Amino acid sequence: MNPQAIHEHNSAPLSAPTRALHWILALAMIGLTAVGLYMAEFEAWALYPIHKSIGLLVLPLALARAAWRLKEGWPPAASPATALQQTLAKAVHGLLLLCTLAMPISGMTFSGGSGHGFGIFGLTLMHHNADPQRPGEVLPLHEGLSQLAQSVHSALGYLLIALLLLHVAGALKHHLLDRDATLLRMLGRSER
Ligand code: HEM
Ligand code: HEM
Repeated sequence: MNPQAIHEHNSAPLSAPTRALHWILALAMIGLTAVGLYMAEFEAWALYPIHKSIGLLVLPLALARAAWRLKEGWPPAASPATALQQTLAKAVHGLLLLCTLAMPISGMTFSGGSGHGFGIFGLTLMHHNADPQRPGEVLPLHEGLSQLAQSVHSALGYLLIALLLLHVAGALKHHLLDRDATLLRMLGRSER
């Protein structure tokens, strides 16, 4: 074993809230990223309200997860890890968690500011701002803020993809090469 290895580790299953929130949010974030890129590229307008609805539902879950992390702290490594490995894992986890908060917030700011509004499956949370001069069109409420939030939404979308590739590569490295319990304990199992 590496002499720098830190011995504080624990391969017990992660808590039920950690596992449930992780997998629900993982599925939602991967799906929303794919749908977001697709609908923006191909102007698939029918997907916009679905993307916004599911995206808005992410926010309370992401807030619950952030609160749970503040209460519980980050899980200790599943097997001996160096200080550098632990720092890298924490940095990627922290940024992923930040994306789950920043993506819905930038999406709301962007759609709200552009005058398009948003809601959750028919329940309007922010009304569109109809243009009295041009039927069927909307007037921006705050063009500059909306454009800034759109850039943030788009840039964070690409950051999320890069982080996710690192994150999944890390999970697979632990499972296939280190053969430790990192992935299994997120699935509710412990020793392999
Ligand atoms: C919560 C997680 C979310 C994720 C991961 C996500 C991800 C994305 C991605 C990757 C894009 C493509 C960006 C581009 O190609 O420039 C996109 C576009 C978009 N998102 Fe989201 N989004 C989320 C939530 C939301 C929410 C809550 C709203 C609004 C209330 C929203 C509104 C939009 C809109 C309107 C577009 C189209 C942008 C365009 O036409 O240029 N998103 N989203
Ligand atoms: C197929 C995709 C994914 C796999 C296989 C996966 C796997 C894992 C595993 C094994 C852990 C535990 C790491 C440890 O023990 O230190 C973990 C933690 C974590 N993952 Fe993922 N993950 C995936 C997708 C995602 C996505 C899309 C996000 C965020 C948007 C995410 C965010 C996190 C965060 C924040 C943690 C830290 C613990 C927590 O707060 O839940 N993961 N992931």
